[in-house]
Amino acid sequence: MDIIRSVADLRARLQRVPNNVFVPTMGNLHEGHIRLIGIAKPRAACTVVSIFVNRLQFGPREDFDSYPRTFEADCRRLRDAGVDVVFAPEEKEIYPELQTFVVEPSDLQHILEGAHRPGHFRGVATVVLKLFSLVMPHSAIFGKKDYQQYIVLRDMVRQFALPIEIIPAETVRAPDGLALSSRNAYLSPEERREAPRLYRILREAHDEITAGARDFQRIELHSMWELANHGWKPDYVAVRRQADLQAPAPDDRELVVLAAARLGKARLIDNVEVNLPR
Ligand code: PAJ
Repeated sequence: MDIIRSVADLRARLQRVPNNVFVPTMGNLHEGHIRLIGIAKPRAACTVVSIFVNRLQFGPREDFDSYPRTFEADCRRLRDAGVDVVFAPEEKEIYPELQTFVVEPSDLQHILEGAHRPGHFRGVATVVLKLFSLVMPHSAIFGKKDYQQYIVLRDMVRQFALPIEIIPAETVRAPDGLALSSRNAYLSPEERREAPRLYRILREAHDEITAGARDFQRIELHSMWELANHGWKPDYVAVRRQADLQAPAPDDRELVVLAAARLGKARLIDNVEVNLPR
């Protein structure tokens, strides 16, 4: 496994194997990331993973400085997973000068996560476009754990006609249902025991909708109330359609229930797809 720090070395290395698949990450790797690598590996001769904590996608009061950085442990996991190239650039390799050109995503960037994290998806789309143009993969894997991120990047690739296939991966969970996330490390032991409620509530919403409920606003409000009742500070619970994350029309069959809520110092997000029979 090659660990590469500079853009020049990356370009030289990838010239040898242009058939590559890409998994971008911010490090502090867990089983969720490793699953993406498992999906990537059979698709190309060379699996490239980036580790880069992207300042551009963090708000001024967010956890950029305290975001867990565990480079040695990450490299061990990546080696065990059979990764070929790790690209772990210093900030000045990615942003050698002030990044004045940015990718401005559609109105999607202002709803749900975007409403609570202004500028977040602009930062994500900008760094991912830049990483794509450095790695030049034919495919890239993204987790549905970050559902809106996946939709934004899928649309970016489509609208800019980038020759890259975006492949979504299912959310990997702990046995009690909590979606794996680097930010779970911010939970106290007591909060960790409470945390699976987020997924349970999403499952309940899923089951109600599957059983025929269509009063989505009641479901959203009830879910938020239940979280608040157990010490959470919910940002949103929203029933949307999978295609564009807008409010569902009566005949939409492919839905997704998305949620974000604070528990202590941690802000957790999760979602559950609802596929109704046609
Ligand atoms: P990061 O949070 O490190 O996540 C990297 C990838 O792993 C993303 O595609 C994310 O959706 C996926 N992932 C995280 N937890 C997962 C889980 N429990 N199950 C399945 N997949 C999971 O997302 C980012 O980094 C950044 O925004 C990035 C795309 C790298 C741009 O900076």
